[in-house]
Amino acid sequence: MAAEPNCQPSYKEKIYRAYLEFMEVAERQRRWNIFDDIPWDALDRSLNSEQKAIRVETFCAEELYVPDYTACGLVLTRDIFGLAWFAANWGYEESRHGLAFREYLLRSGMRTPAQMEALENTLVSKTWRLPFMTRRQMACYGALQEAATYLAYKAQRDRARDEKDRTLETIFFLVGRDEAAHAGFYRRIVGFEMDEDRAGAIADLAHVLGGFEMPGAGLIPEYKERLRDAGGGISPRRFMERGLLPILRALDIGRDEFKQAQSEESAAVAAVANDDSY
Ligand SMILES: [Fe+2]
Ligand SMILES: [Fe+2]
Repeated sequence: MAAEPNCQPSYKEKIYRAYLEFMEVAERQRRWNIFDDIPWDALDRSLNSEQKAIRVETFCAEELYVPDYTACGLVLTRDIFGLAWFAANWGYEESRHGLAFREYLLRSGMRTPAQMEALENTLVSKTWRLPFMTRRQMACYGALQEAATYLAYKAQRDRARDEKDRTLETIFFLVGRDEAAHAGFYRRIVGFEMDEDRAGAIADLAHVLGGFEMPGAGLIPEYKERLRDAGGGISPRRFMERGLLPILRALDIGRDEFKQAQSEESAAVAAVANDDSY
């Protein structure tokens, strides 16, 4: 008797379909541009402050590393169509974010073109490199990082709304919505990885969480201090409650299962630290 044909989509096919769904929503519902969709005429210079400028400038700086992010992402994913094409589109979407923040700083008068150029010269003197080396780990990193970015921008959107800064509120709404979509795509990829190797993917998620840092840390001068002093970050507790736990729930990873992976990760780190053969 002939064997039943395998009708399950392959790993690559699942990713391709997920990419196509992502793109359909992006193209039909989520596209925006800085020329028509941001109410620049609502800018009110009486709402300017140096703290706000530092916050937006720090987010802008982090977004401006898009050449490094995209270059590394494309090299890592080039043999998987859905992932590589996602990386290309992701780079375009992220490029809008830096542009919107940059234009806000300039049009509000909080920064001059010369100040922006000086900032960019500082930024390009350092190169962002992949914080983790495998596609699976970088999918975990993407899920965590995009969720954290979404939460930070959501807090800024609420703040801008309270301050009646409609221009900035709109920017954080549009940019944050992109980040949420990115988080959702990466989370799906982690789910596909779990279909292939559940324990390995969960171990990677625990590993990445253990060494997690936002991309701007180590690149942008005084990154953490700037966010802390200007009120731009999110608390670790909020990241856990609103970032990590929804990821675990969406992927149907039990708390105990994840804690077990975290303790194995800690034991592995301790074993390496205690290994005097290095
Ligand atoms: Fe972004
Ligand atoms: Fe993003």
